[in-house]
Amino acid sequence: MSGPLPGPITVPDIVRMKERGEKIVMLTAYDAPTARLLDSAGVDILLVGDSVGNVVLGYENTLPVTMDEMVHHARAVVRGTSRCLVVADMPYLSYHLGIREAVRNAGRFLQEAGARAVKVEGGRKRVEVIRALRDTEIPVMGHVGLTPQSVHDFGGFKVQGRSGASARAVLEDALAVEEAGAFSVVLEGIPAELAALITERLGIPTLGIGAGRSCDGQVLVIHDLLGITPDPVPSFVRRYADLGAVIREACVRFGADVRGGSFPAENESYHLKPEVLDEIRAGVERFARRHWRS
Ligand code: KIV
Repeated sequence: MSGPLPGPITVPDIVRMKERGEKIVMLTAYDAPTARLLDSAGVDILLVGDSVGNVVLGYENTLPVTMDEMVHHARAVVRGTSRCLVVADMPYLSYHLGIREAVRNAGRFLQEAGARAVKVEGGRKRVEVIRALRDTEIPVMGHVGLTPQSVHDFGGFKVQGRSGASARAVLEDALAVEEAGAFSVVLEGIPAELAALITERLGIPTLGIGAGRSCDGQVLVIHDLLGITPDPVPSFVRRYADLGAVIREACVRFGADVRGGSFPAENESYHLKPEVLDEIRAGVERFARRHWRS
């Protein structure tokens, strides 16, 4: 087991990690303070996921998320990062309406936010888009299997690749994404055995989420890992903290202190020097006397 790379971590660094058999650590991030913490915790890749829609913005799924929202969050994450590779997720409809629009939108993440790569969902259907982004010098992370933007097509968030035909389709999607020039690919919501097979067949790193332990790296949504997402969370999530309970308890105590008058204390307040207070009081009295006379 090797330690975290010193950074700044680049796209070729990530590809080399697979070659060296080093596991890649990826987490989502949506804001600067979280990015700063994850950056210092030795995470390799910060994904500004379109999961910001359901995780942070209160949407039901990722479909309503816009390019402007994604650029806003990607900027914040980049501002909080000094060593991680920041990858920005292309939201729904930002790469479906033609190659020129896809390139323009992807380019916004590099130009306006300072991200170093983008992620697109889909396999064989995305070959043209991935090639065009590569021709524009934009590094691309693919994403196959249970792609959340296809939720209505799948009839829900359902594990993919369970039958022979479906498994073949996921494998072909992963191969197509590599062939088109992606530097890595997320494998989401597929059986561990299929993910192992794909990982063995691909030269580029695979990043698993709900795809077993054989992938070249693992990714989780940060709010799931920290225990901020309300239950139930998917079975593939491991909770490393219960920050939801910590946050709720802290806020209950704050409310009690405010209502009971113990917050703020003297040392939590600003104070005037006595001579300044005397001067202000005298000034107020002079003003009041003049006002009463007139
Ligand atoms: O948007 C996201 O958070 C993702 C990860 C779950 C891979 O795409």
